[in-house]
Amino acid sequence: MLVEIKASVSFLKSKISAAPEVGIILGTGLGGLVQEIEIKHTIAYKEIPNFPVSTVEGHSGKLIFGVLGGKNVVAMQGRFHFYEGYTMQQVTFPVRVMKMLGVKMLVVSNASGGVNEDFEIGDLMIINDHINFFPAHPLIGKNISEFGPRFPDMSEAYDTDLINKAKQIAKNNNIKVQEGVYLGLSGPTFETPAEYRMIKILGADAVGMSTVPEVIVARHCGIPCFAMSIITDLGVQGKIVKVTHEEVQQVAAHSEKKMTLIIKELMGEV
Ligand code: HPA
Repeated sequence: MLVEIKASVSFLKSKISAAPEVGIILGTGLGGLVQEIEIKHTIAYKEIPNFPVSTVEGHSGKLIFGVLGGKNVVAMQGRFHFYEGYTMQQVTFPVRVMKMLGVKMLVVSNASGGVNEDFEIGDLMIINDHINFFPAHPLIGKNISEFGPRFPDMSEAYDTDLINKAKQIAKNNNIKVQEGVYLGLSGPTFETPAEYRMIKILGADAVGMSTVPEVIVARHCGIPCFAMSIITDLGVQGKIVKVTHEEVQQVAAHSEKKMTLIIKELMGEV
């Protein structure tokens, strides 16, 4: 796999003019942050050697290199989900490519279902920790010691300093933010009422089908992570209604501006 990653990296290095400092992975319906990037290069996943290609609706499949809030960034417009049939190594492949391109911080967004009773649809949640409930783990197999240790520490999966900065930015801009634990599972089904109940009992505030694998691999190679969720539906007893992918995209698009502002300002402070 290291050989494959290196091939992607040397291809990308031949195309770009500046090494990215920050990697950004945008979730369902959350591609709008790209409009804030002063774009230098757009490279379709299908052009990049060994890069997986995204299939899900609402994800367009490009790497965008440019400047955001004064930082050189690389943004993934469209991510790879485990439920699409990719292996965990494929899901997290771009994170390792980012590492080898020079990325020193990872920002991740996603849409999720809230299980915390205090949450409302459209809320933003800063992820302060996660529970890995995926049936597979991206670091199973031979450890690639060029990236990190066999048994990586996860005591601060989400960087406390970045969380505090983001909370301050939200406060200064009068943006309501929640904070909590994200439980990641495979999907593609949304949860049953009993599952939402279980997720809450397990100690999570929100549930979704992404982010955890990418953050694990980023932490393995020492990249500090910041992640935000848009609560697109509620898995709270009495408030559970049918969820559709279209609704998830609509709510995400609606709350996206607030999240974009926080991420853009955060770039100016790191
Ligand atoms: N469950 C899992 N994933 C999700 C949800 C949900 O309720 N909402 C958006 N992504």
